[in-house]
Amino acid sequence: MDWKTLKQTAREKFNGACRVCPVCNGVACAGEMPGMGGIGTGTSFHNNVAALAGYRLNLKVVHDVGEPVLACKVLGLELSMPVIGAAIAGGKLNMGGAVTEPEYAAAVVSGCQQAGTVGMTGDGPIADVFEAGLKAIGAVGGRGIPVIKPRENDKIIEKANQAADAGAPAFGMDIDAAAIINMTNAGQPVGPKTAAELAYIKKNTRIPFIVKGIMVPEDARACVEAGVDAIVVSNHGGRVLDHTPGTAEVLPYIAEAVKGKITILVDGGVRSGADVLKMLALGADAVLVGRPVTIGGVGAGAEGVAMVLNKMAAELRAAMVLTGTKSVADVTEDILW
Ligand SMILES: Cc1cc2nc3c(=O)[nH]c(=O)nc-3n(C[C@H](O)[C@H](O)[C@H](O)COP(=O)(O)O)c2cc1C
Repeated sequence: MDWKTLKQTAREKFNGACRVCPVCNGVACAGEMPGMGGIGTGTSFHNNVAALAGYRLNLKVVHDVGEPVLACKVLGLELSMPVIGAAIAGGKLNMGGAVTEPEYAAAVVSGCQQAGTVGMTGDGPIADVFEAGLKAIGAVGGRGIPVIKPRENDKIIEKANQAADAGAPAFGMDIDAAAIINMTNAGQPVGPKTAAELAYIKKNTRIPFIVKGIMVPEDARACVEAGVDAIVVSNHGGRVLDHTPGTAEVLPYIAEAVKGKITILVDGGVRSGADVLKMLALGADAVLVGRPVTIGGVGAGAEGVAMVLNKMAAELRAAMVLTGTKSVADVTEDILW
């Protein structure tokens, strides 16, 4: 499928839930939840995109970097590039009925696998959501990472151990979903966690533990102290709290606090290979991509997800050549103007 057809097909299938805008920045879809937008005024979603756009890259071409290295290792996983498919749940509700939960989870994990990387799956009040993710991960030999809502600790441990049984190499918890109302309304309470609770979850699970939704250095340090394996600097794509800064704005401060002590992932507004490179320069080890992967998945299933990721890889490769960056493992702030 060509790029234009993919976008057109996605636009039709979303049925208004996502307009597949030329720039996916949360402006047209502000407040559209359920849907693909950001919460309230849409400012947090927009800030993610604007923060990345605010950084400039130094174009540098007098060097010998013609074949940059994109491959990397994240949490022991060999990846073709430092780009991971983000967890997006609630397909039926948020994507205009375009795809079912199992269809979407399967498209993401197998599309990410086709592109040589890994995809995440989500969790929600309906048991189908987490189960669809685990099933999709099992179907690709365990190459996928389920993200569990910040439920009661023993429930998280139970689900993390199910993930390990399905062969998942790691599990996540989107701690920023601490005040999400649809979980509580369904009798499945969620809430914030203390550092002691994070340590308890870590102690009682057997695969690497990723805490997703860290926006301040203090929380990042608490994750390090609790023995957490990775954090995701994230505001949930601007869907949980209005008026947060963009993730690219807070990332340098978090990196300054914990770089080298814990794996640092980041998401929010990553739309191109140049954006990936900027996030690496700001201190991330790898990025997660949300809505663009959803557009690929809704437009053309696993093939569409792989198309989006392969396009990002090509852009990242070009951006590395044009900034003189040899390897994704060795990106410094100097490439930023
Ligand atoms: C419709 C929708 C559903 C989401 N569901 C989840 C989820 O179940 N679990 C989770 O950790 N994050 C969820 N997220 C957040 C994404 O994982 C990710 O943090 C965010 O989309 C990244 O921003 P981007 O879309 O601008 O790339 C969701 C995001 C959207 C748009």
